[in-house]
Amino acid sequence: MLDDVASRAAPADVARHAPAVRDLCAALALACAAGPALAQTAPATQMLTTATLAELATHLQEVRESERGHLARELHDEMGQALSAIKAIAWSLQQRTHNPESPLRQGAEKIGAIAATMSGHVREMLGRLRPALLDELGLVAALQLMVQQWNDTHKGCECVLQVAPEFAEVPPELQIHVYRIVQEGLTNIARYAAARQALVLMQAQQDFRILVTDDGNGFDPRHKRPGIGLTMMRERCQALGGHMAVATKAGEGVQITINFPRTFAGNNMHANQVRLNDNGAQ
Ligand SMILES: Nc1ncnc2c1ncn2[C@@H]1O[C@H](COP(=O)(O)OP(=O)(O)OP(=O)(O)O)[C@@H](O)[C@H]1O
Ligand SMILES: [Mg+2]
Repeated sequence: MLDDVASRAAPADVARHAPAVRDLCAALALACAAGPALAQTAPATQMLTTATLAELATHLQEVRESERGHLARELHDEMGQALSAIKAIAWSLQQRTHNPESPLRQGAEKIGAIAATMSGHVREMLGRLRPALLDELGLVAALQLMVQQWNDTHKGCECVLQVAPEFAEVPPELQIHVYRIVQEGLTNIARYAAARQALVLMQAQQDFRILVTDDGNGFDPRHKRPGIGLTMMRERCQALGGHMAVATKAGEGVQITINFPRTFAGNNMHANQVRLNDNGAQ
């Protein structure tokens, strides 16, 4: 069933973005083929290549989010309905006998319990694939709920969220980036920081600014790390036309600072100005 969902979801979304991705790949291939000439025009070409890569990264983010949304809908409609039907049948089988020792009743109870557990897993997967509340409640309320749920499940550490209501100005198609940035920051804190206090501060001044900080273990940014969470946060910042800085020392917590403009019309221009050496935790 999941294989089926996955195989049906991806091609349509990928196909929709295929021409743009193909153009970008062709541009990259041309740039690579240029070889020695490339070296002579290095600064301009580096800028072009970086801009192209930034655009490609933004596109891939969009494809990924769109696939996630599609998968979430399929899971919700197909799997959700099937599980509800199984629970209803199990319940009606249970009603056939009131003898708790009856194998029929015990079997039906087990089927009902398994279906309920699976429903819980599906709900959890849905939340990860596509935060439906982001669509329903908007960015600010969805973030408040995320932090509330995070606090419920991470009792040793308290997270405080302060979010300026102006964040509602972020266009709907870009809100997912802000949501995922905060989500990844909190996931990392839960996984690695062993912190007592976390703070997500979201301010609206001339620019938007997000601070995600904790008072935990920190890490040594000189060590290369296999994960892609911080890289993806950085790519999402670029999609917002902004930039991200990570300040940390082993034993002294982590402070992630993200800035992006409140005017979104010039997003591509900002994304095109990504610096070549902007490549990881500093
Ligand atoms: N708040 C934090 N406290 C301590 N260490 C952190 C924190 N955030 C990140 N790190 C360190 O930085 C590394 C890189 O984080 P990143 O999110 O890029 O990857 P990951 O979490 O390991 O994997 P992924 O996000 O791809 O599942 C982590 O493995 C962890 O060692
Ligand atoms: Mg991570």
